[in-house]
Amino acid sequence: MSLSAPEPLTATRNVSNFSCGKATLDRWLKTRALSHQQKGFTAILVVHEAGQVVGYDGLAPTAVVPSIVPRSIRTGQPPDPVPCLLLGQLATDTEWAGRGIGTGLVKHALQRCVQAAALIGGRALMVNAVDEEAVGFWRRRGFTSSKDDPLVLFRSIADIAVSLAEGTGR
Ligand SMILES: CC(C)(COP(=O)(O)OP(=O)(O)OC[C@H]1O[C@@H](n2cnc3c(N)ncnc32)[C@H](O)[C@@H]1OP(=O)(O)O)[C@@H](O)C(=O)NCCC(=O)NCCS
Repeated sequence: MSLSAPEPLTATRNVSNFSCGKATLDRWLKTRALSHQQKGFTAILVVHEAGQVVGYDGLAPTAVVPSIVPRSIRTGQPPDPVPCLLLGQLATDTEWAGRGIGTGLVKHALQRCVQAAALIGGRALMVNAVDEEAVGFWRRRGFTSSKDDPLVLFRSIADIAVSLAEGTGR
């Protein structure tokens, strides 16, 4: 059985067995994701095998106070709040870990962010790391922690666009 490409979450996909090892991300997928998708709070993409969700991510617009944005991204005289995009969720089922699903979802999300920011603006992509291990995952991908909260990280859309255009982005 082959994996799907990332596609929007619908009620026809089975999330009941999903387990990434982090309870908050498992619970959110099972109890909140579909309603957040249907109400337009978050755009959730899933990768599935025969309808069984094995990976997902959630993107939403956000706006943050300038002081939490790393100085290198908060250049000039930014508006207050600073328009950004938020990758609030990213997870792969542990049964499928290490096969590139997470990396594929991140790349797909980065591409969507560059396209979205070109249409409606957005200075940076913000991510909420679930724990210290996740902070390392994001730092290896060019994200910088907020000085106020190391679990909140940013990468400028301009930087993401350059790395995707060069083919080095991930
Ligand atoms: C982080 C996560 C999404 C990666 O998903 P994945 O599908 O295994 O990702 P990939 O196969 O593309 O590998 C990505 C990274 O995970 C590492 N990895 C792969 N399998 C792993 C495993 N079994 N245990 C720990 N790390 C693993 C890879 O070495 C790679 O490391 P890198 O950052 O140096 O590139 C997944 O481990 C997960 O859901 N973790 C729990 C939730 C979480 O931390 N979400 C991310 C931030 S909130």
